[in-house]
Amino acid sequence: ITKERTMSKKAKLIVDGEEYEFPIVEGSEQEKGIDISSLRAESKLITLDNGFANTSTCQSGITFLNGEEGILRYRGIPIEELAANSNFLEVSYLLIYGNLPTPEEYHSFEKQITEHTLLREDLIKFYDGFPRDAHPMAVLGSIVSAISTFYQDGLDPKNKDQVDLSIIRLMAKLPTIAAYSYKTSIGQPKIYPTNDLDYCSNFLKMMFAVPSEEYEVVPEFVEALNLLLILHADHEQNCSTSTVRLIGSSQANLYASISGGINALWGPLHGGANQAVIEMLHEIHDNGGDVDKFIEMSKDKSNPFRLMGFGHRVYKNFDPRAKILKDACDKVLEKIGVSDPLLDIAKSLEEKALNDPYFQEKKLYPNVDFYSGIIYSALKIPTDMFTVMFAIGRLPGWIAHWKEMNENKGTKIGRPRQIYSGENLNHYVPMNQRDKKKAA
Ligand code: SDX
Repeated sequence: ITKERTMSKKAKLIVDGEEYEFPIVEGSEQEKGIDISSLRAESKLITLDNGFANTSTCQSGITFLNGEEGILRYRGIPIEELAANSNFLEVSYLLIYGNLPTPEEYHSFEKQITEHTLLREDLIKFYDGFPRDAHPMAVLGSIVSAISTFYQDGLDPKNKDQVDLSIIRLMAKLPTIAAYSYKTSIGQPKIYPTNDLDYCSNFLKMMFAVPSEEYEVVPEFVEALNLLLILHADHEQNCSTSTVRLIGSSQANLYASISGGINALWGPLHGGANQAVIEMLHEIHDNGGDVDKFIEMSKDKSNPFRLMGFGHRVYKNFDPRAKILKDACDKVLEKIGVSDPLLDIAKSLEEKALNDPYFQEKKLYPNVDFYSGIIYSALKIPTDMFTVMFAIGRLPGWIAHWKEMNENKGTKIGRPRQIYSGENLNHYVPMNQRDKKKAA
């Protein structure tokens, strides 16, 4: 748990002549926050902060990001170093357990995961109940919640052994669950995991192999997938991670909390943006590549259209992940020997938007979702599976935050306040005395 560093300084609040003081808490990267835990008890006041844009819900030692400077670090290690040197399982271990694993720790983690990739045969029957065109995020969230019914004696969030086994099971089975939802949607036989393949190779095989022929793992695909999963592994208190923490704060089990995170990630403003970016690029391509028209549309307040893959709640500079992915796009496409007209459109869109005063003034830059879809497409991953890929990448981050929250003795159940703005005291009116006009 992070060392709480409390500054000697305090914050003063003066309301109606009354003066209140609150401690200022400083984090290990010199971020400062006003601790208002006693605000309501002392002043009867509460705060209002739409979208929690100015509110931290916890102190966390997992991921540090600085949106102004475009910095992202997992347990202090810059994302650029991890992207260049690590692999997804090692990064997952780092996020969940707090340190880079020793060779023994790594091999034990990998072996346990490898030996838990199978789904119970009864669970596989669940897939027959979904319509063929079910969105794979709906399937993913449902199956992750359902899977806990097979481990009813292993759900106690305060039991370390049960939590550790649940972590292994989720890390191991999410790729299988995802690949099975894809195979079901195309009416192909499900491909069982293979224990002699590494994590990413196993997933690609489950996605694209068919029983009637040998499947050849393409090393470039495996390298690209590792990079994508590393870049998506955590991002501090984003919408879906905050959801996982809030559900977990009621002491709901890990599967229930992760299922909630999957559903929060599905939204087009969050993890669903990578699917929306490709759909947008296709639309621009089908419109003869008229990039300017879409940039103008995204600036028109009367038009709900936004430039998907652009803008970020925290990054008011380049998203470092987008920079890494932009470079990777060229390399991956060249290695794989494909050219994608959508990449040319994406680059033209980025260049024009970055030189547009509207985007400059609002500090809107490409985010992680802007380029990821181009690489997923090169790996032959279907568009409606893009957000599922984001979920597979973000799983270790969700787990790490849930674990940190549960291990923090100071954690309380999350229960925000509100400012009530509805009717004052009102009374029941019998049906035959209600005036339809007034009701309307
Ligand atoms: C992810 O939080 C995380 O860390 C998320 C994530 C992670 O790893 O978990 O990084 C992953 O979700 C990345 C974001 C993916 N979403 C998109 O690409 C969808 C498009 N982007 C936007 O919807 C928007 O930028 C958000 C939702 C990402 C951020 O929205 P905010 O912080 O609430 O900002 P805002 O909507 O208030 O926008 C500020 C201004 C507004 O104009 P004004 O009302 O001030 O005049 O910028 C405009 C917005 O209209 N704006 C855009 C825009 N994004 C913001 N205008 C055009 N196109 C856009 N994409």
